[in-house]
Amino acid sequence: MSMNDTFYHLPVLLNECIAALNLKAGGLYVDGTLGGGGHTEAILKHEPHCRVLALDADLDAIRFATERLKPFGDRVTIRQSNFRQFRQVADELKITAIDGLLLDLGVSSFQLDASAKGFSYRLDAPLNMQMNDHESFSAYDVINGYDEKKLADIFFQYGEEKNSRRIARKITEMRRTKPISTTGELVSIISATIPERFAKKTLSRIFQAIRIEVNNELENLKTILTDATAMMNSKGRLAVMAYHSLEDRIVKDFFKTEASNVIMDENYPELSKEKTPALKIITKKPMVPSEKEMNVNPRARSAKLRIAEKL
Ligand SMILES: C[S@@+](CC[C@H](N)C(=O)[O-])C[C@H]1O[C@@H](n2cnc3c(N)ncnc32)[C@H](O)[C@@H]1O
Repeated sequence: MSMNDTFYHLPVLLNECIAALNLKAGGLYVDGTLGGGGHTEAILKHEPHCRVLALDADLDAIRFATERLKPFGDRVTIRQSNFRQFRQVADELKITAIDGLLLDLGVSSFQLDASAKGFSYRLDAPLNMQMNDHESFSAYDVINGYDEKKLADIFFQYGEEKNSRRIARKITEMRRTKPISTTGELVSIISATIPERFAKKTLSRIFQAIRIEVNNELENLKTILTDATAMMNSKGRLAVMAYHSLEDRIVKDFFKTEASNVIMDENYPELSKEKTPALKIITKKPMVPSEKEMNVNPRARSAKLRIAEKL
């Protein structure tokens, strides 16, 4: 796929995200996962008097979306940055308050189809999986550097993979002869370890686990949720779309903790203290795409949108 392709990524739950943000004139919204710019473009069109600060770690996304969003001039500010650094970016831009945050987590269709990134088990590529190619740590380091237990732990925790130990053992055995350097080699090792009928599911779970580890995805998510909530104006909204259960659980737990009026002490419940809640949960259950959207866009299938409002 080339940068000239008009198709980069089909935005998921687009109308629902726009409604979730409760856009208002004069508002400043943060899109932490710009990607192809589909959601940001819709925000800018829907509320002609708002501004957007958009971040993405991936240079291809930045280039594509910068071109796409040119018609909006200085209503949109785009920065190549990991969203965990949102606070620093805001400081540099002298932003002290925001009116909404949108996160559409994971990788874009473009990234999945860009073979050089190594995100997809369907395409042979070097073991990379970095959202930002300039980071020094890659999937190669995980697969060739982690000991057997650590590998098994990340496959189990981040991939929820039952055969984690067996797969980790096989990887460490195979890399003794020579390092594993491509996704193709990793796919054949995993495929030789499990029955064929489970292959696809297992491969996608293992690839997901490695991606989460390489990019420290779960910690980054907690960081931006905390920082954006602290900077959010009253009635500002957080709209977060997750694509797997671990991410969704982090969002759910964060909203729950921030919406609660007690700080729970798990070990000594009698020591729990009262606090002022920061958020109100808008979606008791996450919103999911309609059958129709899932049919048009299979990548929407696992999306879960949760919304909360700053009090
Ligand atoms: C699913 S896509 C977003 C698609 C976008 N909403 C659109 O309409 O085109 C996710 C994007 O978030 C970026 N991303 C994921 N985690 C990130 C992080 N921690 N910091 C910055 N960007 C991140 C990826 O590089 C990818 O471009």
